[in-house]
Amino acid sequence: MKKRVLSGVRATGKLHLGNYLGAVKGMMALQDDPQYETFYMVADLHTITTPYDPQELRKNRREIILDYLAAGLDPEKSIIFQQSEVPQHTELAFFFSSVTTIAKMQHLPTFKEKVKQYPEHATLALLNYPALMAADILAYKAELVPVGIDQEPHLEVAREIARRFNQDYGTDFPEPKRFKTVGEYIPSLTGEGKMSKSIEGSYINLSDNLETIKSKIAKIPTDSGKGTIHPAGKDTVYTSDAGTVSPGTGALMSFVHLFMGGDKRRELETQYETSGIRYGDVKKELSELIFAELAGFQGKRLELEANPEYVDLIIKKGNERARAAAENTIRDVKEKMGLL
Ligand code: AMP
Ligand code: TRP
Repeated sequence: MKKRVLSGVRATGKLHLGNYLGAVKGMMALQDDPQYETFYMVADLHTITTPYDPQELRKNRREIILDYLAAGLDPEKSIIFQQSEVPQHTELAFFFSSVTTIAKMQHLPTFKEKVKQYPEHATLALLNYPALMAADILAYKAELVPVGIDQEPHLEVAREIARRFNQDYGTDFPEPKRFKTVGEYIPSLTGEGKMSKSIEGSYINLSDNLETIKSKIAKIPTDSGKGTIHPAGKDTVYTSDAGTVSPGTGALMSFVHLFMGGDKRRELETQYETSGIRYGDVKKELSELIFAELAGFQGKRLELEANPEYVDLIIKKGNERARAAAENTIRDVKEKMGLL
């Protein structure tokens, strides 16, 4: 039997470059590997764990699917679906909540961040976020999960739940691992923290045109371009706290590494220590390369927007296939839990 893969993105808007490099590229690599059966969903239920607008949710969950398809997720190879259309996820999440302690959930960094962001909305749904995510993955007994590094604590919870369930009930859940990509941590264009939809000025949208990309890249706060440099490691991408260069320069170096290659990055590091870097030229070339990677995506996105029936059909079929696969797991779990 093929090994299974599952991943998802919350329906909070269109994809940005961080989602694309950190998650979607990994999703594509695995869909193209015949060893795997791949399930990719839009996590609309996770979206309602923080304040949201129902109209926006309906619109956004479709945007994510359009972005998936335009980026290259292929309905012939992957099962593409909507989380809330597969009720087995919520059912399994409830079962999982019976082996998950409140104390543990309260200590997760993602929970604390969201509570800080929305102090009036520290709800049970938010607390249960990791159990629902574990259910998403384990409903399919998926072993690999292509997501960015920020999701690691959630995967740790999924592994603990799998172990507990296997011990207590004799189930055979695998302990899912993160599938890492070179873009597992994409820095913010501001130089501080990671690229994120909730931080204005931090991201490049996959739908941005060349002019927009140029102006966003031009705004990365670089330093004087000359001095001593201590990169994090010869083959790793910079994070904002990696070296002695300014955080903005570190972010720029990461983008150079990702879009122009490690050799180009090393060449720039040498320049930094000798003649100095002319950021204007680098930023222009980098913007063009980023746009070149996105141009195909944008063309395909327009085609898909003009073909709503085709997209509807993909979603409908995906939902059906996902339900059938998840149903098998649920039946087994209910039996072992004494509910059948
Ligand atoms: P989110 O938009 O937070 O639901 O994230 C969707 C996916 O994109 C998850 O797999 C995240 O780990 C990934 N992701 C989001 N931001 C970044 C980033 N700055 N760098 C790498 N991956 C990211
Ligand atoms: N928590 C993930 C995020 O914020 C989204 C998500 C929900 C997910 N369920 C998942 C990712 C299952 C991978 C597998 O990005």
